[in-house]
Amino acid sequence: MSTEPVIAGNWKMHHGPGATRRFFGGFRPEFDGDPPTLLVFPPTVSLAAARESLPETPPVCLGIQNIHWEDAGAYTGEISAGMAAEAGATHVLIGHSERRHVFGETDDEVALKVDAALGHGLVPVVCVGETLEERRAGRVEEVILRQLDVALGVLAGREHSGFMLAYEPVWAIGTGETATPADASAAHGGLRKRLVDTLESEGDAGDVPILYGGSVKPHNARELLDAPDVDGVLVGGASLEADSFAAIATA
Ligand code: PGA
Repeated sequence: MSTEPVIAGNWKMHHGPGATRRFFGGFRPEFDGDPPTLLVFPPTVSLAAARESLPETPPVCLGIQNIHWEDAGAYTGEISAGMAAEAGATHVLIGHSERRHVFGETDDEVALKVDAALGHGLVPVVCVGETLEERRAGRVEEVILRQLDVALGVLAGREHSGFMLAYEPVWAIGTGETATPADASAAHGGLRKRLVDTLESEGDAGDVPILYGGSVKPHNARELLDAPDVDGVLVGGASLEADSFAAIATA
């Protein structure tokens, strides 16, 4: 397990360049000890504004919310991993539930994107999670391990020190419903075991951070971060205001 928690904010389709500058102008969390690893995924058009307005302390890494798997070509509206890296992104969300369920992203596309990200030195943050129907049918582990295996198929045999996983139950995203710390722990434990079993011969699979996401707020961040096998949080709505994201980061 990694030592520093990872506190990540996924802004989705919120905050253009102006709002991005205002956010970082007001983002001043104070930490007693070492700061966590802070990561923000602004909309792509706000990456430059984010880079210009990042505070010197605490350090914040920037990510992109999606990439195309090709390096270049006739793909109107798409952005390649190389372009994202050149624009200052160090991380990329892959397979977020909104990409899967709103835009129809498939497991095969997730695999291609993980491959492209690794090829350009971006850290893939691969999101997995079950729907409510799948949870009710007792299929949580089957679904999330299948989604993880897709990424592991690309990672096996490659450098994977730069890789993160996010468990985001679909029913908990943007709904105010949060997995209990015990539910999150159970899912993370299954993911961790699969990571270690699959990448066993390759060293540090135990260090891959597994983040929990789905209605993380200042009031519940602490108990989720304290749960066994939860190495960080991926925050949507509550990452949009500097104060609430700072409250989660200091939790
Ligand atoms: P939420 O979103 O915190 O608003 O539920 C989480 C996410 O989609 O990453």
